[in-house]
Amino acid sequence: MTPAQWEALLYDWHNAHRLRRQRDDTAYWTRLTEPHDSVLVLGAGTGRVAGALARSAERRVTAVDLSRERLARIPRTPGLHPVCGDMRRLPLQGLHSAAVIPYSTLQLLLTPEDRERALRETARVLAPDGSVHIDVSESFDSRSETDWQLSLAEPCPEAGGPVEEWERSRPHADHVAIEKQFRRAGRVLTEVTERWVYHRALDLAEVLARTGFELLGIDRGYGRDSSPHRLVYHARRRH
Ligand SMILES: C[S@@+](CC[C@H](N)C(=O)[O-])C[C@H]1O[C@@H](n2cnc3c(N)ncnc32)[C@H](O)[C@@H]1O
Repeated sequence: MTPAQWEALLYDWHNAHRLRRQRDDTAYWTRLTEPHDSVLVLGAGTGRVAGALARSAERRVTAVDLSRERLARIPRTPGLHPVCGDMRRLPLQGLHSAAVIPYSTLQLLLTPEDRERALRETARVLAPDGSVHIDVSESFDSRSETDWQLSLAEPCPEAGGPVEEWERSRPHADHVAIEKQFRRAGRVLTEVTERWVYHRALDLAEVLARTGFELLGIDRGYGRDSSPHRLVYHARRRH
């Protein structure tokens, strides 16, 4: 197994244990996209959200992600089309009626130019009046510096036994770097560094206006009761 395959497997393991207790964003996205027959999920990962959208109705769901290894774990579902590609240069044509950028994915694009490029590309493949819904988190803004600490320890049958996730955080001017190590029986299976841009550094309302969108509203989305740091931006493509 390659480090990237371990990373994809352990991403699912992490979510299976963490999100079970935290929130249910998939029900929210399913409700929100109900009227749409062609939905784009940008940063679809292993299909957690895209799979739920495809299963909920007869429609086309296009799931875009940079990671071939994550996409390889998407369950085969009628109507669900995985596409390996970069949201800054979408390998897509066609007019989708809605786009979802779930689970803080836009905050993984580190420069203002990258975020602007991604939203221009989203506008390009949306129908006139098509909508984009962007899920961001304010929680990274207040992450303090930490040394290595154990953040999760749970069984992982696919890894052949219990796995530990360790992490440490380093705040920078506009983002926080979170290094993660996944260990089994004292051995490091794989390690990753995630860099999350702070919500306050996104200027998302202005970027949406510049990239061809009309902002319709910002709300607490699915996090209203359980994750008060969540914000969902809703915008419509201008004609
Ligand atoms: C936080 S994960 C969300 C995955 C999935 N939507 C979920 O909710 O579980 C962010 C995903 O965005 C992908 N990603 C990061 N940068 C990307 C880019 N430039 N283009 C496409 N996907 C990207 C990563 O590979 C990762 O799978």
